[in-house]
Amino acid sequence: MTRRQRIIMTVIVVGSLIYIILTQMVHVMGKAPGEPVQHEVRKFCASGPKWNVSLKVNEAILPIIYIVTPTYRRPEMVAELTRLGQTLTMVQRVHWIVAEDSSSCSSVISALLHRLGLPFTHLATPMPEVYRRERYVPRGVSNRRAALQWVLEEGQEHGVLFFLDDDNTIDIRLFDEMRYTQVVSMWPVGLIGDYTVSSPVVREGKVVGFYDGWPAGRKFQVDMAGFAVGVSYLRNQKRPTMPYIAGHEEDGFLKSLNLKLEDIEVKANGCTEVMVWHTRTAKNPTRALRLPPDKHINDNIRALADNMRHMGMIK
Ligand code: UGA
Ligand code: MN
Repeated sequence: MTRRQRIIMTVIVVGSLIYIILTQMVHVMGKAPGEPVQHEVRKFCASGPKWNVSLKVNEAILPIIYIVTPTYRRPEMVAELTRLGQTLTMVQRVHWIVAEDSSSCSSVISALLHRLGLPFTHLATPMPEVYRRERYVPRGVSNRRAALQWVLEEGQEHGVLFFLDDDNTIDIRLFDEMRYTQVVSMWPVGLIGDYTVSSPVVREGKVVGFYDGWPAGRKFQVDMAGFAVGVSYLRNQKRPTMPYIAGHEEDGFLKSLNLKLEDIEVKANGCTEVMVWHTRTAKNPTRALRLPPDKHINDNIRALADNMRHMGMIK
């Protein structure tokens, strides 16, 4: 080692030591471990009304919104549907269609739907096996197709159809935006792809194109949560359908509605605001809980594990 290298080494070692000592001192100076060592700023801004004013009684006059949510069993499923479902309880005149990618309806979802007190339809709509073997699996398509058929057959004429995946987050004001959709309405969706957003491009109040990081030759470069359709318009189309083509479901569906760009109704303040996000929940492995035969015989853990298994959280 040369003299120069030795000096550099010494500077690094001594510098690191000083750094470690200083950072530890900051902790020691705090009152108890983990307690703040610096002043916390806390500012009161405003508080809201005591009672929930979002639910009014004259619901019946509003057009109904059919919200279609595909879902499938995995550790996050019940958490996702609880979060979404509870959001929907704050919205007037909605009908939640939950379609499970499963051959049967699960009792946890059924119990949740009954508990929420929302108008709902619970479907079991498994993906055909052939698609499951594809390289790019068309996720949630069998579910949405079944819900689409349900809306075509059962939906109220003045209703609106809206696809909302279970890993999305929604601002309930978006329902006011879409409620009077006649043909197809659109708005930006946050946290999509390379651009962090997918949005129609609007000029003088009209959609003239799309701002989306993955054009992929699509005419309608939109996310599933980026549009709503009027039920009567939907019914007037020859063959509304959603293709089993991963990544092209939205485009295929909107093309099947013979939609023209100039007919799109622009929402969310001229497509300048984000009111729905593709948040995506982190995926957790489906584990088996470690429960040795001689452990947790007389406590809560086995009952907890049973409930978690029931929710699809563990094996
Ligand atoms: C998006 C679209 O929503 C899918 O229709 C499309 O297949 C996919 O992009 C793609 O282009 O590959 P993505 O966010 O990637 O979906 O996928 P997920 O969020 O995992 O699934 C979309 C919806 O389908 C969710 O509501 C999910 O619960 C449901 N899903 C997912 C199923 O019903 N079955 C599955 O096996 C996976
Ligand atoms: Mn998703």
